[in-house]
Amino acid sequence: MSRKLKRAGLIFAATALSHAAAHAEAGFDASRRVFRLDGGDVTYAFKIDGAGLLQSVYWGSRLAAADPIDAPQARALSGFDVAANVVPQEYAGWGGGIFTEPALKVAWPDGNRDLVLHYVSHRLSRDGVSITLRDIQRPLTVTLNYVIDRGTGIIGRSATIANDGRTDVRVDQAMAATYVLPVGSDYRLHFLTGRWGSEWTRQERPVSAGATVLESRRGSTGSENNPWFAISQDGRSTETDGPVWFGALAWSGSFRISVDRDVAGRPRVTGGFNPFDFAYRLKPGERLETPIFYAGHAEAGMGEASRLMHRFALEHIVPRKGELPALRKVLYNSWEATEFAVDEAGQMRLAERAARIGVERFVMDDGWFGARNNDHAGLGDWTVNPSKFPNGLAPLISKVRSLGMDFGLWVEPEMVNADSNLYRAHPDWIINFAGRPRTEGRNQYVLNLARIDVRDHLLKQLDALLTNNDIRFLKWDYNRNWSEPGWPAADPADQQKLYVDYVRNLYWILAELRRRHPDVEIESCSGGGGRVDLGIMALTDQVWASDNTDPVDRLQIQDGFTQAYAPGLMMAWVTDSPNWVNKRATPLSFRFLSSMQGGLGIGTNLNKWTEEDFATAQRYVGVYKRIRETVQHGNLYRITRPSPDNATSTTLYVARDKAQAALFALTQGTHQLEPRAPIRLLGLDPNARYAIESMDGTPLGDGAPAVATGAYWMGRGIDIRLQGDFQGAGYILSRQR
Ligand code: GLA
Repeated sequence: MSRKLKRAGLIFAATALSHAAAHAEAGFDASRRVFRLDGGDVTYAFKIDGAGLLQSVYWGSRLAAADPIDAPQARALSGFDVAANVVPQEYAGWGGGIFTEPALKVAWPDGNRDLVLHYVSHRLSRDGVSITLRDIQRPLTVTLNYVIDRGTGIIGRSATIANDGRTDVRVDQAMAATYVLPVGSDYRLHFLTGRWGSEWTRQERPVSAGATVLESRRGSTGSENNPWFAISQDGRSTETDGPVWFGALAWSGSFRISVDRDVAGRPRVTGGFNPFDFAYRLKPGERLETPIFYAGHAEAGMGEASRLMHRFALEHIVPRKGELPALRKVLYNSWEATEFAVDEAGQMRLAERAARIGVERFVMDDGWFGARNNDHAGLGDWTVNPSKFPNGLAPLISKVRSLGMDFGLWVEPEMVNADSNLYRAHPDWIINFAGRPRTEGRNQYVLNLARIDVRDHLLKQLDALLTNNDIRFLKWDYNRNWSEPGWPAADPADQQKLYVDYVRNLYWILAELRRRHPDVEIESCSGGGGRVDLGIMALTDQVWASDNTDPVDRLQIQDGFTQAYAPGLMMAWVTDSPNWVNKRATPLSFRFLSSMQGGLGIGTNLNKWTEEDFATAQRYVGVYKRIRETVQHGNLYRITRPSPDNATSTTLYVARDKAQAALFALTQGTHQLEPRAPIRLLGLDPNARYAIESMDGTPLGDGAPAVATGAYWMGRGIDIRLQGDFQGAGYILSRQR
């Protein structure tokens, strides 16, 4: 630490003050009482204000180490808006005159519901800080945890609420964090909405006074709103430029993120457990930990915001053995081909065909267990159906292994059909209100994983399945949401703990299975993309984005998905044409080019394929294996985004070391003699020379060079002639030595 800084009274915890961009630091300026986190290109600061409240100060592009960061003491705007309501609090208790969204709201047995959280102490680490707040009178302590990622500048925030007193306290609302943006009236919120079969639509609206609430009340993440947001600035932010603040909540249960503009003109984003129907009793000595709410800042537009999220998830969220997760295997899944009609001979026949085209993982979907011949029976009975597989799974698995593929299996562990041995034995194991009707969804109920006996039963069943069979992959499905969310066996004061304890026990089962079976990979599926969030992603290797496998709809779905999550985590299947969703017929090449933009899967009925189809598939699977590291781990640039009425999409994936790029240009249909602008690439090394080659023989425009500099491909661009419906082309650019 230099003398000058010491003189200025600055005390930084970080050991080195001179830092590279990829260095994170956490520090505390004792004279101003300002905390500061620096990571990537971001600085985040907050302070202890004159009253003892924790006040947000700055969140944006990285500032110089010696820059003095501070904010004035907030004052009342009027008698209607007292100071506490004006201070942009980092973590506000509901009390002391605030009308903004509180982070925490509690009730004591004597009826007191006033909570004012003041700073007590802090502990700095190299990349973060934890801060203790306490109510001004009552023994309730909140520990706020902050960590900043040195690579991306993405901050993770969460809170632990502890009852240090001698009476119970009921938590009515517990959020992970509030993030505050600078004062402004030109902000625009981007968010993702959907429903089964049409997930991941990016929506936008102005951030104005009057909250926008993104939420799930379904018990799981759901596809209605994904727990992700991005906020840009009108006239400043585009796909490639301008500031964007963004974030995602790592929680797979009912959640809420509210975005509002306060009376002083600052957007405030508060996220955590959904307070709707929420109540969590803390007995003396008990604590409640919130999920982590991650948030970041980009200066180069929505594209850069996505790339930071992708990188962060790959490097810090999803399971990995090295620095990055393993590459996704090309998989085959039998669902759309056979539905429930699976049997040993039929699956073996499909496996032989899948192996011919270079598939690396063969997955048998629903229908293999219990009395599962349709969706009315069997869920809960995770034993092999003896008439479909008289010798168990072993013959099929060894056949699949002998063909050089891994074997994977579909399960839906959290569910039960009324027509199952499990339900007949334990009708009390489901989520329900005593004596009330039990609503079925897809003829099934949700097991109450908050119960320890249910949790342990599921672990035992799945553990046995994985121990007794050479299974390397589970597709973990979840095909309905909660209804009548009761837990009759629990004390009424604890029944709503279901919202937290269910999800924690789900995470516990997944973590325990991974520990016991480290070679098994898991996919999170919920009738499509109904459970995709950074919470489940920490325990699974890939996710299923949608049951909608139409390649045109998928371009929109994939565009929405990759706003928030890495393309390498999203499985995308080539399926039969016409597609079951909308009866749209598309060429096989178009279907491949659409699906090769994520983790590639094949879900067609291979028994119906011609030799020509096999040859086409072999070619694309071969190309995919050459580019998959670039697609899955690289940087995604959206050159043309699909619009709702025309899924024309141009996307570019550039390898982390810029040695390779993969370009996909697809059009739903061209009109008249539309002139097409050249496609100007992004993110290449301008000085390196790149050779271009077609993935499928589609020629480039006349006079196009075979080799040129990155500067040329980014400046002059590429002419691609696509005419007609469902046309696509793919190109690989390889850096020359
Ligand atoms: C869900 C999944 C499908 C398939 C079926 C099986 O809908 O999303 O991919 O596994 O269940 O019943």
